[in-house]
Amino acid sequence: MAGKLITSGVHYVGVSHYDRRFFDALVPTPEGTTYNAYLVEGKERNALIDTVEPEFKELFLHNLKATGVKKIDYVVSNHAEQDHSGCVPDLLALFPESKLVTNEKCSNMLRDLMPDIPADRIITIKDHDTLDLGGRTLEFIMAPWVHWPETMFTLLKEEKILFTCDLFGSHLATSDIFLDDPRLFYEPMKRYYAQIMMPYRGQVVKRIETVNSLELKMICPSHGPAFKNPALPLALYSEWTSVTPRNAVLIPWVSTHGATARMVDHLTNALVLKGITVYPHDLVVADLGRVAENLVDVATIALGSSCILSVAHPLAAYAALLANTLKPKAKFATFFGSYGWSGIKVPEQILGLLGSLKLEIIPPVQTKGAPTSDTYAALDQMAEDIFSRHCSLGLK
Ligand SMILES: [Fe+2]
Ligand SMILES: [Fe+2]
Repeated sequence: MAGKLITSGVHYVGVSHYDRRFFDALVPTPEGTTYNAYLVEGKERNALIDTVEPEFKELFLHNLKATGVKKIDYVVSNHAEQDHSGCVPDLLALFPESKLVTNEKCSNMLRDLMPDIPADRIITIKDHDTLDLGGRTLEFIMAPWVHWPETMFTLLKEEKILFTCDLFGSHLATSDIFLDDPRLFYEPMKRYYAQIMMPYRGQVVKRIETVNSLELKMICPSHGPAFKNPALPLALYSEWTSVTPRNAVLIPWVSTHGATARMVDHLTNALVLKGITVYPHDLVVADLGRVAENLVDVATIALGSSCILSVAHPLAAYAALLANTLKPKAKFATFFGSYGWSGIKVPEQILGLLGSLKLEIIPPVQTKGAPTSDTYAALDQMAEDIFSRHCSLGLK
């Protein structure tokens, strides 16, 4: 989606990374991503809002040139992470009169990451400082922890366009900067939220309050589509950041010889019969991005695992650690699985990896070897325990 005119004098100059398959080496990105950058032309001065991943430098400079712009006066950095700041040194070199504009924390982080940025080329701004481009004004609004501590928004005041960098981003390499149909970006946007924003949910809620107070006409993030209707991303984020989880259970599971798989089937069925939505994921083949998306909403995490020798299966441990890292709003957790000769400590091992979430633990269920009628009865009781706890939260 190169060189797109967003509104008069505001251009999209970012790049699409169609075959990016992982982000932060943590969650898959099957639909790629984009690194959005925007050129804002004033009557006297021009500003570039963010840059792109360094490996896309040539394409980015091509897109910038395609706008016909002759000079860049300001390179605004909303976020120090390299997918947005990686070409800052190239821009400063290409436009020797230009200045880097950012807040003090971001400035320090940029110079830690790219020591070649000259200190005398940096203009350090504070919350609500403005920059006059001639007939157009940029206002900088501090927005820490969406995604790192130095993040900020840039507001184009006259047009009421907010450049939010990572906030409201989507891992979606689209050929159009504006997508009108939410079905085209809902899943990549939720995947993005789960990985990048959910760990800072409390901070995200505060930033949404700020965004809501600005009465915007457009929101332009730095990954995936931009929004001509700001109510759309705000409504999705309102749902995802809400305190109350859904009446749903996530079951990440791994089974070496099929016994634990049969327990998954039984538990899933028992929960569904009680009207609970269930998301089972076989961790051997699962898209961990989908696991992360389900973590956004569920009230309970039920981890299922065989044991390997006498310890937890590493895939189950990874799923537990992923949940612990992403900090979902889930309230309850439990464990079930089969073992061969010794695996009594496996529930403790796996559930212990969820330690930072402070979840209420529902009694686990284990079977030695194949599940028996007693095992299935215990899983029915687990389903009942989950159901009653969900009811206690008023979930339906
Ligand atoms: Fe980021
Ligand atoms: Fe980013």
